[in-house]
Amino acid sequence: MKPYKLKYYLLALLLPALLISFVVSPNNQSKEIEFKNGAVVTAHGEASKVGLAILKDGGNAVDAAVAVQFALTVVYPNAGNIGGGGFMVYRSAKGEVNALDFRETAPAAASKDMYLDAQGNVIQNLSIYGHLSAGVPGSVDGMIKAHAKYGKLKWAVLLEPAIQLARKGFKITSMQAREMNKHRSDFIKYNQPGHNYLLKEGDWQEGDLLVQEDLAKTLELIRDKGRAGFYEGITAENIIKEMQFGKGLISREDLKNYKSIWRKPITGQYRGCKVISMPPPSSGGVCLLQLLKMVEPYDLKNMGWNSVKSIQLITEAERRVYADRSAYLGDPDFYKVPVEEMLDKTYLKNRMADFSFEKATPSSMVKPGNFGIPNKGMPKKESEQTTHFSIVDKEGNAVAITTTLNNSYGSHVFVQGSGFLLNDEMDDFSAKPGVPNLYGVTGGEANSIQPGKRMLSSMTPTIVEKDGHLFMVVGTPGGSTIITTVFQTIINVVDYNMGMQQAIDAGRVHFQWLPDVVQYEEIGVDSTTNFQLKQKGYATEVRNGIGRTDAILRTPSGLYQTGADKRGDDNAQGW
Ligand code: GLY
Repeated sequence: MKPYKLKYYLLALLLPALLISFVVSPNNQSKEIEFKNGAVVTAHGEASKVGLAILKDGGNAVDAAVAVQFALTVVYPNAGNIGGGGFMVYRSAKGEVNALDFRETAPAAASKDMYLDAQGNVIQNLSIYGHLSAGVPGSVDGMIKAHAKYGKLKWAVLLEPAIQLARKGFKITSMQAREMNKHRSDFIKYNQPGHNYLLKEGDWQEGDLLVQEDLAKTLELIRDKGRAGFYEGITAENIIKEMQFGKGLISREDLKNYKSIWRKPITGQYRGCKVISMPPPSSGGVCLLQLLKMVEPYDLKNMGWNSVKSIQLITEAERRVYADRSAYLGDPDFYKVPVEEMLDKTYLKNRMADFSFEKATPSSMVKPGNFGIPNKGMPKKESEQTTHFSIVDKEGNAVAITTTLNNSYGSHVFVQGSGFLLNDEMDDFSAKPGVPNLYGVTGGEANSIQPGKRMLSSMTPTIVEKDGHLFMVVGTPGGSTIITTVFQTIINVVDYNMGMQQAIDAGRVHFQWLPDVVQYEEIGVDSTTNFQLKQKGYATEVRNGIGRTDAILRTPSGLYQTGADKRGDDNAQGW
């Protein structure tokens, strides 16, 4: 072949490969932003600014987190909340770790079959919309507990920014306008006529001012009376009135009795890093550690990022982990969760023994692992609408909080006179073993409904430590995709050496045992890889916008690199 022909020939061969690598490499355009004294990353710019102002005023990471939680209630009403719950993972600059469970609980009047009809069938939507779908809210008690143990600034100072945002209003983003318009009919359907600040004549537009005076007053009650400002008095009365109107179950006693709980975080090692995450009633920490431990013996880096081999390995680990999740995870105060057994090194190695790079293991062949405990069911997939924020202060104290109303805008029930939404977290319980919920997955005995019990969660607020120093603060919303998204963000940094923003921008792949389908963001998997996965027996489908990760990475020089997910309005602030 003549030299010039050879040149064209080689070019023709190389061009598709070049194009493919441009499309699917982790985003090289990602711009890394670094701060010296601390950072706050949340789902909304106004909330991030509130957190930063608290840090600059001498508050620590917990002070900023409390202020952000209340600010998100105002500026991010589809998931920010006082009517829901969440989890906090904490690591002090000195390395002390802790976890706070402010998950909602089932009301005392709740019962195992409360969402079934006379024939024993699940009544559609009863656990997702309206008054009966609400669990007893935990966020206010959680924030009070977190502040009492670690806070430095006065409680009232932390409430003030949220009060001002609610009273003076803030300009909504185009994404928020779209969301509120989309949910308009449900706001009308599930509420008594009256003032719902999320409704307006005509459509919301980007830049409209959202003012919430009733919410400002409720926040003032919480500011002045603490717990009693929410769980007693006029706020409690308004919740009870709602329950009477919509035949909900939350009682005065339920509100009075609600307690958030300090728990011992789940910890484990991954390639020299210490991973600190949320224990049950979240499935997040256990499943994340199982995944990391299952892939650790393999050289992910050499396999290549989102290559056929690495996707196979990760998918097969996820298949086994989500099968376990279905049977063994629930509220540890009601069900003995076999955490130690699930994280046992030999168990996890044996779990992967039948995995082969030759072809997919069908999910029908994979059952929950056997610890001699009866397996009575399968898991539920959870809501996509939750929110996560990550904060590091000047001293190096770190907070990861994931908080939720469950579905977008929760139950859609707006507490009249108090100006906030109630969660629909009861849907995270298993309404009936083996019956899939809204998101196509099912649950079992470990997660059955019982009075006072916490529903299983996937929320995975996580802190990673390296060489005794803070390394990463990470978390995301995304229902059952939360665990796999946090997992991928960690391996993107640890195995593939990405910066924080790059690790978040990179396309994601999700698999959860059932359905037996690998879901991927288009930017994450090229057509050749997809074709080869199919040839090996994997069903695949495109899914848009998996997760919205907000995270902070400490660089070797001690700077804080932020990552705010561009899939949403997420925003990083620092100084
Ligand atoms: N409701 C979302 C979760 O707790 O995982």
